[in-house]
Amino acid sequence: MKEVRLAILFSGNGSNLENIYKNMNDKNFDDFLVKIPLAISSRKDAYGIERCKNLGLKCEIIASKEHKVDYDKKLISILESNNINLVILAGFMRILGKEFCSKFIALNIHPSILPLFKGANALKESYQSDMKIAGASVHYVSDELDSGELIEQDIIYKIEGESFSDFESRIHALEHKIYPKAILKALCKL
Ligand code: GAR
Repeated sequence: MKEVRLAILFSGNGSNLENIYKNMNDKNFDDFLVKIPLAISSRKDAYGIERCKNLGLKCEIIASKEHKVDYDKKLISILESNNINLVILAGFMRILGKEFCSKFIALNIHPSILPLFKGANALKESYQSDMKIAGASVHYVSDELDSGELIEQDIIYKIEGESFSDFESRIHALEHKIYPKAILKALCKL
C-alpha cells in the first residue's frame, strides 16, 4: 500500500475541497492510501476556511500580495515541509509559476469545457453562450492559465430558462463527480 499525501488549495467557497476531503481522506483506492493533511487558502476571508475547521483539516493562509515568485516560494516551502505528493487546486485563483510546476504535480478544476471559456468568468460566459451544453474539466496545472493536459471532462445539457444559480449548482454537482475520479487517474500516474 502506497501512502499519498494531498494538499488542497482554494480561494473561496471550498465545496470541492469538502467533497474531496470527505470522499478521499484516509481511504484506500486500489494500491493507494490517500491522506489529506493540509489545505491552503489564498484569502483570509474564504468560506472554505470555515469548512476546514468543521472537517478538522489543518488550513494555512498564504494571502500575501507578494510577487508571484515569492508567493510560490512560500507555497513550495509549506508543501515540502508537509511532504505533499500531489497538489489539488479547487477554486484557487492564482496562477502558479515555472518553479512551482517543476517541483509539484498539480491538478486544477475549471467550470467549462476547456479549452473554451478560460479565465475567471468562465461560468458566466458558458451560461450566457449560445451553446447547448456546458461542463467542467480537470487538467494538470502548467504555468499557463487553465491549460495543461486534460484528465477528465463531463457535460450537462442546458435547460431553457434556467437561472444562473441553478445552472451553477448543476455545474458544481458535476465538478464534485469528476474531481475525485480525475485524482484517482492522476494517482495511478505518480
Ligand atoms: C469551481 O467552480 C471551480 O471550477 C472554479 O472555482 C469554483 C470553486 O468552487 N475554478 C476556476 O474557475 C479556476 N479557473 P468551490 O470553492 O465551491 O470548490
